[in-house]
Amino acid sequence: MFVIDGEGVSVPIVSMPGHARLSIDLVVTKCQEALALGVGAFALFPAIDPTLKTEDAREAVNQENLLCRTVRAIKGALPNAYVITDIALDPYSSMGHDGLVKKGEVVNDETVDLLAEMAVAHAEAGADMVAPSDMMDGRVAAIRAALDEAGSTHVAILSYTAKYASGFYGPFREALDSAPVDAPDVPKDKKTYQMDPANAREALVEAALDEEEGADILMVKPALPYLDVIRRLRMATDLPVAAYHVSGEYAMLKAAAERGWLDERTCMTEALVGIARAGADVIFTYAALEYARWYKESLR
Ligand code: PBG
Repeated sequence: MFVIDGEGVSVPIVSMPGHARLSIDLVVTKCQEALALGVGAFALFPAIDPTLKTEDAREAVNQENLLCRTVRAIKGALPNAYVITDIALDPYSSMGHDGLVKKGEVVNDETVDLLAEMAVAHAEAGADMVAPSDMMDGRVAAIRAALDEAGSTHVAILSYTAKYASGFYGPFREALDSAPVDAPDVPKDKKTYQMDPANAREALVEAALDEEEGADILMVKPALPYLDVIRRLRMATDLPVAAYHVSGEYAMLKAAAERGWLDERTCMTEALVGIARAGADVIFTYAALEYARWYKESLR
C-alpha cells in the first residue's frame, strides 16, 4: 500500500488501476477490509511530500515521519495486522536513490548506518518486519545488530536478496515520484547496486551472504521474469523464499485486461500460481485483495 499525508485523501495511481496513494485513515480501513478477506500482512511505502525530500534523506529516520505514523495507526487499530516496512532511502531522497549520493556515486557504508537507524525507528513504531530493498552490501547484519541492541529482537528481516535492476518498477516510481532525478552528479539508474538481469548465479552469492548476516526471509524481485531465480533460491536455502510480483507486472495484466485482451481473473491467478509453483513461500502482490476475493468465491 502507498501512503500519503492528509485525511480522507485517495490519489489514484494511473499506471496501477485499483491502487491509490491513501491517507493513513484510509490505509487503516483498507487493512481492515483485507483482514476480513484473510490477507493479514501489509507492505507499506510512503509518498513523501517533495518539500521533505533532501540530499541527506534525513526524513527517513524521523520517528514522526509519515511511515512511522502509519505503522502506529495500523497497529493501534488492528493489533493483528502484520506490518512490513520498506528500508531504503528513495522515498526520502531528493535524488531518487536508495542510498546516499556523494560525488556522483551511491555510497554503501554511510547508507547502511542510516538504514539501520531507520529500521530501529520502524520497529519502535511497531513494525513486525523490516524489508531492506536498497541492495547495499552488509545492511542485513547492520540492521540485525541495531535492532537487537535497541531491544527489538522479535522484529524480523525480509531481505531483498536478489533485486534486479528492472524496468518493471516504473509504475511504483510514479506512485512515489521516486525515480532517479536527471541531474549532473546523480547516477541515472540503479545498476551499481541492483543486479544485472542476465546474472542468475549472483543471486546465490547474495543469498549466502544474507543468510549468514541473519535474514529471516530471502526475496527475489521482480517475480515472473525471474522464476528460475526463485527456484534456484528455493533449492539453495532452507529459509522461506519470497517473491515480489512488482508494479509493472501488475500494470501489464491490468492494462491488457482493460482492453479486453486477457481475462484478468484467469491470468492474474495463473501468474500468482506460477510464482508459487516456482518455489515462492511468500508473495508480495498488488492483486492480493482481488485474489483473496476470487479464492473465496472459488470455495463456494
Ligand atoms: C525501492 C523500491 C522499489 C520497489 C520497491 N522498493 C523501486 C526501485 O528499486 O526503484 C519497486 C516495487 C514495485 O515495482 O512494485 N527501494
